[in-house]
Amino acid sequence: ADNTVYRASTTAPVNIAVIKYWGKRDTALNLPTNSSLSVTLSQKSLKTHTTASCSSSYTGPDTLVLNGELEDIQSSKRTQACLQVLKRFRRDVEKKDSSLPKLSDMPLRLVSANNFPTAAGLASSAAGFAALVRAIANLYELPHSPTELSKVARQGSGSACRSLMGGYVAWRAGSAKDGSDSIAEEVASVSHWPDMRALILVVSADKKGTPSTAGMQTTVETSTLFPTRANEIVPKRMAAIEEAIQAKDFPTFANITMMDSNSFHAVCLDSWPPIHYLNDVSRAAMNAVETINRRAGEPIAAYTFDAGPNAVIYYQEKDETSVAGVFRYVLQAVGGWDGEYGAQIR
Ligand code: PMV
Repeated sequence: ADNTVYRASTTAPVNIAVIKYWGKRDTALNLPTNSSLSVTLSQKSLKTHTTASCSSSYTGPDTLVLNGELEDIQSSKRTQACLQVLKRFRRDVEKKDSSLPKLSDMPLRLVSANNFPTAAGLASSAAGFAALVRAIANLYELPHSPTELSKVARQGSGSACRSLMGGYVAWRAGSAKDGSDSIAEEVASVSHWPDMRALILVVSADKKGTPSTAGMQTTVETSTLFPTRANEIVPKRMAAIEEAIQAKDFPTFANITMMDSNSFHAVCLDSWPPIHYLNDVSRAAMNAVETINRRAGEPIAAYTFDAGPNAVIYYQEKDETSVAGVFRYVLQAVGGWDGEYGAQIR
């Protein structure tokens, strides 16, 4: 028998949205209520490393070891959805060329590790599913483009579809029932805006309170402000921020980023029961950004918060001392911070 172990490794980056994905119109396929846009961070700072292997000498079901612990992927519908699609893609490849090994029939072993806290609102699921999909696609030698693979990663975790590309990435909500047009695409490359920087301030590396899927459902079902956000506000902001990115207009980029983060947390508070992700330390970070911008006379820093209290601050390299420098000084005085990642964009 052929006992060869086939293996492929890859890494995937974290992305931090400036226009937030919050709300599903289809929970099985992870189809969003609105488009979103993110910046992919450099893998020098935050990333997931994943190795996928398969062999006919492996026994038992497919397994995933995440940060040294065996995960229960048999009961994870999202992981199973990704694995099934990727195996189907491989089967199609094997059908076209019968000389290829039948990898699609072999048990998979996945080993994955983050170099940052998992599920602390640091978009770990995004990098995680992007790395899982890319590693298996590499193992299976699939011919699919990053945009095609984004549809697979999306089924693992919505935001993961945006981590298959670098730079500035839009996830188009699409309108098809089967999700065929709900895809990620790069709207500008990293090199388009080489000055862009991100600073990640870790308030707490603890697991977040309300998981994003449950939180989104509560918001969609109960928030009275939500329909206006999803149908009117976000479409306008998507167009405006894409224009700001093309023009490298930081003040506009910063204002939209902060307004959209606040709008997302406002619909969370407007949900019933209300969802709180920000805490006093997060609010101290918002105040620090406001002070920095007031002193500068224009926005030179932008905060944004995901489903947790940690802050991500976007700024330009030319403002490093006025932003990152002042931030460290202010936060020392405030206290309550667990750490910091000087996350580069490239
Ligand atoms: O991909 P999920 O289900 O973890 O949802 C992520 C939601 C936010 O991080 C809050 C916003 C976003 O667009 O990434």
